[in-house]
Amino acid sequence: MKKIAVLTSGGDAPGMNPAIRAVVRRGIYKGLSVFGVQQGYDGLMRGDFVPMDLGSVGDIIHRGGTVLRSARSEEFRTPEGQNKALACMKEAGIDGLVVIGGDGSFRGAGKLTEQGFPTVGIPGTIDNDIAGTDYTIGFDTAVNTVVDAIDKIRDTASSHERTYIIEVMGRDAGDIALWSGLCVGAESIIIPEAPVDMDDVVQRLEQGNKRGKKHSIIVVAEGVSSGAEVARMIQERTGLETRVTVLGHLQRGGSPSAYDRMMASQMGAKAVDLLVEGQKGVMVGLKGGQLVHAPFVDAARDKHTLDMSMYHLARSLSI
Ligand code: ADP
Ligand code: F6P
Repeated sequence: MKKIAVLTSGGDAPGMNPAIRAVVRRGIYKGLSVFGVQQGYDGLMRGDFVPMDLGSVGDIIHRGGTVLRSARSEEFRTPEGQNKALACMKEAGIDGLVVIGGDGSFRGAGKLTEQGFPTVGIPGTIDNDIAGTDYTIGFDTAVNTVVDAIDKIRDTASSHERTYIIEVMGRDAGDIALWSGLCVGAESIIIPEAPVDMDDVVQRLEQGNKRGKKHSIIVVAEGVSSGAEVARMIQERTGLETRVTVLGHLQRGGSPSAYDRMMASQMGAKAVDLLVEGQKGVMVGLKGGQLVHAPFVDAARDKHTLDMSMYHLARSLSI
């Protein structure tokens, strides 16, 4: 292994930059030449490789987004697209690839491994929805962003005695909703992993009202329903004045938290070590506080699970 490349793919996440930095610096430390690929798999199919030296990743550890930029690439899903990428890497003499992204990006990386090309993945998505790891880079920052936003919304909710419905990201996973909902003391948290029971949501609101509570916060994961729909149902059934906030893409931005920088640095260095050891088709993960690695196929086959005890805790504390 002499030359490696690194790319970021799929939805960006705070912490991707410190992960790129760790891959580049660890690679150079291990005597490798490191190249950055612009715009994920799109750039890989164009052979858009930029040599990365120590200075190229200076001053990015605190920056959100990804300096390499990211993409969702339809063409790369096809065998022709994958062959193009393999040909470009061969021509440039690249003999290992680090992919920073979500489970979709790992399915793509798995296709390159099937063709014999060494790839290693680093989980980077705010959703925290990848099987085989307890943590994905960006999640902590995103949860803190949501908590900060809801704390502000609570101020106005309380001034105007309104019920606020906050819609947060997480296509198929309720992690962001659950963590942020617990941390802001939301009255109800609506996530894909638990059956939605509007009777229960209404009953909790009415119970709170009876004991003098004048404002409420309900957090809903986008994968279950829209905030607008939940607000419509609540207003219809309770007559309470509701407002909706869709936090949207602001959850993906911002300076990575200390925890995300720590995870990114550890996982980035570990990915390079795995490539150097001759591993291929694996993803770095965190399990029980330890850095581990697991085959992409396991991450693709298994389903990410949520700690439901946290859901029950949140319910029991917001009575
Ligand atoms: P994420 O990595 O955040 O889950 P996506 O699901 O959009 O984001 O995946 C990122 C990119 O990975 C896709 O745009 C596509 O180029 C590639 N990809 C996803 N699934 C596959 C697949 N089954 N085969 C090949 N490439 C894939
Ligand atoms: O990064 C993950 C995610 O934020 C999902 O929660 C969301 O549904 C999706 O990406 C939206 O991303 P985009 O608008 O970039 O397609």
